[in-house]
Amino acid sequence: MSVVAVIGGQWGDEGKGKIIDLLSERANMVARFSGGSNAGHTVLNPYGEFRMHLVPSGIFHPEVVCIIGNGVVLDPKTLLEELESLHSRGVETKNLYISDRAHLVMPYHLLLDSLEEEARGGGALGTTRKGIGPAFVDKVQRLGIRAGELLDKENFLERLHFVLEQKNLILTRVYGAKPLSLEEVYQDYCQYGERLRPFIRETEVMVEEAAQRGDRVLLEGSQGTMLDIDFGTYPYVTSCSAIVGGSCPGLGLSPIRIDRIIGVFKAYTTRVGAGPMPTELFDETGELIRERAHEYGATTGRPRRCGWFDGVACRLSSQLNGFTGIALTRLDILDVFPSLKICTGYKVDGETITRFPSSIAFLERCQPLWEEVEGGECDISGARQFDDLPPQARSYVRRLEEIIGCPVDLISVGPRREETIMVREII
Ligand code: IMP
Repeated sequence: MSVVAVIGGQWGDEGKGKIIDLLSERANMVARFSGGSNAGHTVLNPYGEFRMHLVPSGIFHPEVVCIIGNGVVLDPKTLLEELESLHSRGVETKNLYISDRAHLVMPYHLLLDSLEEEARGGGALGTTRKGIGPAFVDKVQRLGIRAGELLDKENFLERLHFVLEQKNLILTRVYGAKPLSLEEVYQDYCQYGERLRPFIRETEVMVEEAAQRGDRVLLEGSQGTMLDIDFGTYPYVTSCSAIVGGSCPGLGLSPIRIDRIIGVFKAYTTRVGAGPMPTELFDETGELIRERAHEYGATTGRPRRCGWFDGVACRLSSQLNGFTGIALTRLDILDVFPSLKICTGYKVDGETITRFPSSIAFLERCQPLWEEVEGGECDISGARQFDDLPPQARSYVRRLEEIIGCPVDLISVGPRREETIMVREII
């Protein structure tokens, strides 16, 4: 298979980092197309344990070309720190490229993200405060500054002067905050530009040429479908398209180039930040899942909200993405439970619904309708073939396939590369 997209099927943190790191063994290129440093893709491999915020998770394979596409909003300071940390641990980054069209996260985006969250009070979205929303706002408002602009210092100064004047008005008059110094921001970003210069390219050309050659290209999604700006639980969403469709404008790739779309699903549900989550558990079961799986945000350290598998949300996710296969992660976490629950519909006002609603006010009134299935209560972390799994785990997987509507290609039973059951070849 040539071009394979790997997309979060739920509310993010499904384990995309491990899947990309693993599949990169057979890939020529890995390209990130959305989000920014709000992402925290956890990778555990022979180099150690990493939380990747901006650099694609294919970077551990030195021959793989890694692309940060134009759809990503890039905080250059975070990226440079991430690169330094990778180098200090022996990871090469000579094959990394950044789109000249990628919008930059600027210091005012970081400030505004926090100030806006504080102003929302009890209605705060629980953002990661990495400046993501404000950076995407500027992109759409045509006030954004793109990576390529750092390479022409004179023009950059002119643009920054114009934009910063407006931002300082907002910072001072709306929020009573201190203005930012043009000189300081300019100097810092010129320095970042110089350090990033060797990486900046017209990456859409590289992606298209790779696809044309028939190279094996992985499209690395970030966040998850239920955090998508259009189809997630708006307004408790991120600020870009997290579904497979976002990979086309996010990389400059034609949709006809995509051969396979893998949905990464956790065997249960987690969510970090505010917003409705119908299957959330507030009891010791939720607590046990959180502690067993160490469900704490990779970017912010916040405890993740945990619950049973939400089949209604996952059906929507499958419909939006057209998944051709599933990468099911963290199945091992459930191997201590005598019984498991799957949410197959919602009850609201005495009615049963099986479609995920668009209104969050409505969603907040929905109660999960449970299907109870038997758990295996036996350690599955050593399973390497589907048939190594106990019958209860196999039937749980089969039931999830029915609900999501496509076959499982891969099952992850632990964080390490080898703790994986490859059911079908993906790339
Ligand atoms: P933002 O993307 O920082 O603006 O945050 C918006 C919402 O998306 C918040 O609920 C965040 O917790 C959530 N979010 C953003 N990135 C991730 C991620 O990589 N994993 C899980 N949740 C995320």
